Amino acid sequence: MLGNFSYVNATKLYFGDDSLKYLNNELPKYGKNVQLVYGGGSIKRNGIYDAVIDILRKNGKNVVEDGGVMPNPTVDKLYDGIKTARENNIDLILAVGGGSCCDYAKALSVSVNCKDDPWDKYYIKFEDPDCEIIPVGCILTMAGTGSEMNAGSVITNHAQKLKIGHVFKENVMPKFSILNPVFTYSLPKRQMVAGIYDIFNHICEQYFSGDDDNTSDYIAEGLMKSLINSSYKALENPEDYEARSNIMWTATWALNTLISRGKSTDWMVHMIGQAVGAYTDATHGMTLAAVSLPYYRMIMPYGIKKFRRFAEQVWQIDTSGMTDKQAAEAGLNALETWMNNLGLCLRTGELGVDEYMIDGIADATIILNGGYKVLTKDEVKQILRESL
Ligand code: NZQ
Ligand code: ZN
Repeated sequence: MLGNFSYVNATKLYFGDDSLKYLNNELPKYGKNVQLVYGGGSIKRNGIYDAVIDILRKNGKNVVEDGGVMPNPTVDKLYDGIKTARENNIDLILAVGGGSCCDYAKALSVSVNCKDDPWDKYYIKFEDPDCEIIPVGCILTMAGTGSEMNAGSVITNHAQKLKIGHVFKENVMPKFSILNPVFTYSLPKRQMVAGIYDIFNHICEQYFSGDDDNTSDYIAEGLMKSLINSSYKALENPEDYEARSNIMWTATWALNTLISRGKSTDWMVHMIGQAVGAYTDATHGMTLAAVSLPYYRMIMPYGIKKFRRFAEQVWQIDTSGMTDKQAAEAGLNALETWMNNLGLCLRTGELGVDEYMIDGIADATIILNGGYKVLTKDEVKQILRESL
């Protein structure tokens, strides 16, 4: 294990097909004014909106609507939301949606009482909040980001062509999250598989670092195997409750900080993917899928033993008689086959990237040093060229 650490997770979860009723247990803990955060309308079409409104009304809440949160929420939307929250003296922010709504709700929670510009303070200077934080609750409708049980919040600034995530401290984690796998049935297939790859890559980002014998890696392998297994079942039958519940639970554990304990962690696929997102506004999971294989093939020689273990433990490949390089390549080939079977996008060109954007995307990529290799900007450009 690397270093010493503390571990706490401040979010209370309610999981299962009856979990929405527990909103009744949580609402009395907060004041009357609830800012209801949701996206572009999926919750109105699938009935979740009506069910949530009914519970809010029965609990005597004053509901302040804040819909229209876009995928990859923007700083402009955040400024609007701050205004709404201030005008209505909000006591609780209730996000109903995917990671975008949860992330936006968290950004709002630290911005309503903030005297400074929140983009500058939290996303450029990475400062911690020094104001009162409005509590957040989440009702999750899409499995992927893990935002329901972490303190991450990713905001896009189109004017500056930047998409940046701030991982806050535990005081920004949702106070509670409601996870009903049935709510994810209505996701279009493209979103479902993007979410599945987002989950998988969160695990990879933590797994592909360090060469010690680490409990977090064994947990990571179990999560990856469960996800691969359930992904095929959900693809065949989107209403397979067992598969959808495994995917939802895996998403939460992939990024609720547990498996990062004792790890340096990589996160370069996310850094490059986010920069692609800043230029294209493409679906988060697809940006990751499109840059992953060139990235992993580039860093593989620097973490060859871990890539061999990935082939053996996650993809169950019999590597006896193979060199480390052959075994590692076999693992990445198995990953590629799975990604193709899911129908993921493996080319940034399909997401709107062209060769003239490569320098800008590379400039917008934050380079981290926790993985097997610290990339140079030229290597980032090479990965971007290979993924076009
Ligand atoms: O907006 P609506 O109409 O609700 O439609 C959404 C949206 O178009 C739709 N959707 C969600 N649940 C649905 C549904 N459609 C039908 N039925 C349902 N049950 O799906 C689309 C995508 O939703 P979104 O919330 O954008 O997806 P996701 O959960 O992937 O969140 C993406 C955002 O989270 C950030 C990403 O960068 C991106 O901005 N991330 C947050 C992280 C964190 N907090 O730790 C980590 C991640 O790595 C990620 O960066
Ligand atoms: Zn992600």
